[in-house]
Amino acid sequence: MCRNCEIILDKTMHLLPSPTALRDYVASTNAKVALVPTMGALHAGHISLMNAARQHADVVVASIFVNPTQFGPTEDFGAYPRTIEDDKALLEANGVDALYLPTVEAMYPQPFRTQIRVNDITNCLCGKSRPGHMDGVALVVTKLFLQSGADVALFGEKDFQQLCVIRQFVRDLDIPIEVIGVPTHREADGLAMSSRNRYLSENERHIAPTLYETLQQVVAKIRQGAKIAETCAWASAQLQEKGFASVDYLEIRDEKNLVLLEEGLPHIPARVFVAARLGRARLIDNLAL
Ligand code: PAF
Repeated sequence: MCRNCEIILDKTMHLLPSPTALRDYVASTNAKVALVPTMGALHAGHISLMNAARQHADVVVASIFVNPTQFGPTEDFGAYPRTIEDDKALLEANGVDALYLPTVEAMYPQPFRTQIRVNDITNCLCGKSRPGHMDGVALVVTKLFLQSGADVALFGEKDFQQLCVIRQFVRDLDIPIEVIGVPTHREADGLAMSSRNRYLSENERHIAPTLYETLQQVVAKIRQGAKIAETCAWASAQLQEKGFASVDYLEIRDEKNLVLLEEGLPHIPARVFVAARLGRARLIDNLAL
């Protein structure tokens, strides 16, 4: 075991409390290492990322850090679910080798003056409706990549724009890591798994699967030749009829560069993207056309 690592659970999962501990642990493994960054409040979707990571590497390191820089001033940073003891038990039960748990002070030593900004593809979707969010994600993920020196990193496709942003800065900045997207893990009724689903009341939880059903209907209609603008407007109205308070966006975009597609049947890889508010939750999802 490396000098700065501390085993607090049992012999199977290392707890890495600092950037130095993470770096030393990864260096000491002499193996291919996968990093799975998370903000905790783990669910089966996160476990599917851990399992996918095991397919790509010998050692799987998860991180849990509720990153303040990716939350806006009126967003749910304070309320974001923190379930650290359950998370540790779940990761350990699923054979994760190490868990990185940095503090805010270690991640953002004061005075902190650096930003990472990815242009163009952050001006739409969640980058538009949550100003500064994608910058915060880019900053923390860059730091996690540099701190760990991991060989591969895995992210869910539910946050598809986030995945595009991460791929872009990895390429632009020559960060030596392979970024792998993992298909969205869904509940039996189709609702994309998310830590924020726990904000839903019982009634809202019944309404929530309408989001995925609507995406499926949009895909079917477009494939049958329906017009994009009309279909998106219909889908948006349908969500509000079913009980969603508002729709931040419901759009079809080129999945490579996130350019908006407004006409005709897309012959390029495209996705329909949605973000909509239901009670306290802002739910996002997307589906390939
Ligand atoms: O997707 C998330 O959980 C977060 O945005 C991430 C990638 C862990 C960065 O904080």
